[in-house]
Amino acid sequence: VLADYGISPTNGFLPEVLPLARLPDPYYNKWEAVAANLQALILSKRLRGVVDRLPMLSTIGLEHDAEWRRAYSLLSFMAHGYIWSGDSPSDRLPPAIAVPLLKISQHLEVPPVATYAAVCLWNFKPLFMDEDIDNLENLASLNTFTGSIDESWFYLVSVAMEARGAPTIALMLTAIAAARENDAATVTRCLGSFAERVDDLTTLLQRMHESCDPTIFYNRIRPFLAGSKNMADAGLPHGVIYEDGTGTETYRQYSGGSNAQSSLIQFFDVVLGIEHRPTGEKRGRTDGSEREGHAPAPRHNFIMEMRRYMPGPHARFLGDVQAVANIRDFVESNRTNRPLCIAYDACLSMLRSLRDKHIAIVTRYIVVPSREVRARSRSRSPEVARRKVNLATASRQPQGIAYDARGSALAKQESDKRNNLKGTGGTALISFLKQARDETGEPAVEDW
Ligand code: HEM
Ligand code: ALA
Repeated sequence: VLADYGISPTNGFLPEVLPLARLPDPYYNKWEAVAANLQALILSKRLRGVVDRLPMLSTIGLEHDAEWRRAYSLLSFMAHGYIWSGDSPSDRLPPAIAVPLLKISQHLEVPPVATYAAVCLWNFKPLFMDEDIDNLENLASLNTFTGSIDESWFYLVSVAMEARGAPTIALMLTAIAAARENDAATVTRCLGSFAERVDDLTTLLQRMHESCDPTIFYNRIRPFLAGSKNMADAGLPHGVIYEDGTGTETYRQYSGGSNAQSSLIQFFDVVLGIEHRPTGEKRGRTDGSEREGHAPAPRHNFIMEMRRYMPGPHARFLGDVQAVANIRDFVESNRTNRPLCIAYDACLSMLRSLRDKHIAIVTRYIVVPSREVRARSRSRSPEVARRKVNLATASRQPQGIAYDARGSALAKQESDKRNNLKGTGGTALISFLKQARDETGEPAVEDW
């Protein structure tokens, strides 16, 4: 049953018990007070001072899962605010954050960073309780770094998509059962409704443009979502030390928050039998930390890796569905059934189109603003410019910005640098996303 995987029949991967706006036990008032003033503390550069003086609270006052989730979201925002809000990033998290965050993450089976769960799944409230949460006009974010509508909107588009997509979970499990029974009519009907839903989600995704400004997103919001892996250029060469008081503290490295951690979209791939291969290894991995022994490094499958950033039960659900997913095989062995094949193809083409629209968003929200930042910094002195770029973009560029006055050399460096842009998850963005999109189209029935 879905409940065993922490999945709600109505809300999908969003929690059945809606996120709490506040921890009920007054013992946690200090955490709530920091979170309530997070934007002001970041703006005034006083967050670190305040957090350094926080007492270390225990998890003893957390009862229901909703309370653990609230605590996780609070501490993730505080942690990323702490790391990214000074003049340079902090490579240490003090015990007042590190100790409870590690405990809570373990309890919830999530990594101790601001994941998609921390900022989206467990960080919203409906404005009106009697209205649905798949409606963007009925949603608000609980925590934000900036207090901007742009940041809320960025998270809420995902929340609305999760809610709107929730019914596809039961729908496609029905399709799997029907395929097992050789009931092509039911499979066809489910695939048809599924394709329509994915189209709906694309419409929601496109609403990003309404209230999230690309420049604000890129310069103000995105730096806080950054992780601690491959972040040398942004000033975190080794990662972050979580001061847990054991005296055996070592640097940890995590990917930043990314919608690649959405279980819903991965569920779509799994039920449709779409396989994502390791990213074309042009750029290779720079950290050898995951290599085992002297064996050649396994090629990096980012999408699979992101399952480790999902709540544990959701990741297990994907694994279990993968073990029984039979729809693609069913369609392949019923190639003469036109309506079935057409319905399946419609699903692929809708999902592909969603990924196409997403690539356009990434271009407008990351690629274009990153060029503007570089253009601006080139007109400043090298030192100032280097610092500005590093901060503004949590630099996904290689060290050292070139200040070559010669046009053609500049143009070349420009394109080299564009290729080095990284997503908060750590991918080479566009080439990664295009590959994921192309893989979505690969099993098209039309070509068989
Ligand atoms: C992956 C950017 C909104 C779904 C990515 C990646 C980037 C990115 C750069 C590559 C992974 C990484 O390194 O982080 C953005 C930006 C957005 C946005 C700039 C809005 C301003 C969304 C939304 C969704 C979404 C609302 C909801 C469905 C995904 C998925 C992936 C991904 C599923 C994994 C790749 C795939 O399955 O095709 N995004 N994203 N993104 N994003 Fe977004
Ligand atoms: N993954 C998104 C980015 O890279 C949030 O900006």
